[in-house]
Amino acid sequence: MTYQKLQIRRAPINIEDEKMIRLKGRLSPSSSPFRRLFQGDFSQRLSRFLFFRRAYSFLKNIQQKFNFSDYKDYFLTGCNYVLSNSSIDRIVNEVNDRSVFFGLYLPDSMVEEVLHFAAHAPCMEPGYSKNFLMRELDHNNCLPDGHQVFRALVNDTNQCSAVNVVAQDALLLRIASTYLRYHPTKITCHLTWSLASNLTKGEVQNQYPASNFHYDIAGYNFATAYFYITPVLDEDSGTHVMIRGSHKRKPIWMLLKSGRHSDESVYAYYGKSDEIQIQGKAGFGFFQDPSCIHKVKAPTSQNRLLLQIRYS
Ligand SMILES: [Fe+2]
Repeated sequence: MTYQKLQIRRAPINIEDEKMIRLKGRLSPSSSPFRRLFQGDFSQRLSRFLFFRRAYSFLKNIQQKFNFSDYKDYFLTGCNYVLSNSSIDRIVNEVNDRSVFFGLYLPDSMVEEVLHFAAHAPCMEPGYSKNFLMRELDHNNCLPDGHQVFRALVNDTNQCSAVNVVAQDALLLRIASTYLRYHPTKITCHLTWSLASNLTKGEVQNQYPASNFHYDIAGYNFATAYFYITPVLDEDSGTHVMIRGSHKRKPIWMLLKSGRHSDESVYAYYGKSDEIQIQGKAGFGFFQDPSCIHKVKAPTSQNRLLLQIRYS
């Protein structure tokens, strides 16, 4: 698929590749949540608190109003390939109320291009020193040296033109700007394989952090568009699970402890009635405030490929 040439925006947006940015998400390797809080970027750690994220949005909004000339061409990217039947206001209201909006769609040709790219590009897994290709994995998702891969982060997503186009999609930029109440100045692209395994849930959760309930801390305020690139049509194919409204509703112990929490503690506090299991065909997308409690239900039947565009 060919895309019209993107205009160069005057707004100081920084689009970055996913690998190092994701690894920056935890700046300290310490297992102690309190030690982690005081290592690395302390101020960013405060973004777990709703009042801090709102204060940041308020100040960023004022700052951008004073620098209006830098931002007045912000939405003139000349590209809109992401589809939705809803208005920006409705989308943003749903994210405000429920943490998520469903009903974004990628054209089939873009899904195919992203899938083809991810199937052939070098990948890495945090904690494993070598890059690898998906085709090197055997039927148990093990590499020739015996290492079992649970998640494969695709390197150099900026080499995929479809990913770049989605990252600058005018509809997504409008949703992100309206939700955050300022024009996001950093966009990161994450393309991640979650690999099927027949280990027990506990074993997978030890190896694959995102399969535990958690909330993201990824900047001072942030929002994410997600697209399934492979179909997720049942619980076993990599369902994204989340707790409705939890971006605004967390007990203090959950805010002060680490971002990661057991199923038992999450269900004990929220019950199961607010749990949402998100399924959809390839190309289905949703927009979420990832401050909500969420996880991937680790796939067992097939590998899942997810594209995430994070605005902060
Ligand atoms: Fe997450």
